[in-house]
Amino acid sequence: MDKIRIVDKEFRLLVSSDKIQESINRLADQMNKDLKGRNVFFLGILNGAFMFVSDLIRRIDLECQISFLKLATYEGSSSSGSIKRLIGLDEDISGKTVVILEDIIDTGFTIDSILKQLKGYGPRDIRIAALLFKPDSFDRDSRPDYIGIEIPNDFVAGYGLDYKGYGRNLKDIYVMNDKL
Ligand code: IMP
Ligand code: MG
Repeated sequence: MDKIRIVDKEFRLLVSSDKIQESINRLADQMNKDLKGRNVFFLGILNGAFMFVSDLIRRIDLECQISFLKLATYEGSSSSGSIKRLIGLDEDISGKTVVILEDIIDTGFTIDSILKQLKGYGPRDIRIAALLFKPDSFDRDSRPDYIGIEIPNDFVAGYGLDYKGYGRNLKDIYVMNDKL
């Protein structure tokens, strides 16, 4: 289906399931080459990355561990931005190569905050993989190490990503139709 409705908005198809799977194949090939012989710890960011992680990981033939973490947002009454604290990481990542698996990187604020906190756990190094990347919105110095698909700076849902909590179950990725 090319057009769908999620809650109160119309969305249209942006990235088909086939194209998603193709780009995940490519990312897995790259990682299998780059990270050969390393002690790898894949860390998925919930909720959005659950589908990406499950499709990617079955194509990885490295000796590795897989876990997830979640971000808890605190709105400080006087602070300008929101602080995101990591919750759920109870494994030891010290000395390991950590690969963060994110559904989407937009401005880069979230991934920056994750990076700063993870460095405190003493990993050997940290790499960032994002299924989707919005280059026109990203305002940080360094791009993710692994990028699945670059997309325009518009709101998307499906394949793990939600709009108002819905749409995560869709196998394709849809973009919000704002020109109505
Ligand atoms: P950033 O901090 O601006 O990079 O935004 C990252 C987070 O915002 C992601 O982990 C998503 O949860 C959410 N996000 C950003 N863009 C979208 C989108 O187009 N659809 C759904 N969620 C998004
Ligand atoms: Mg997310």
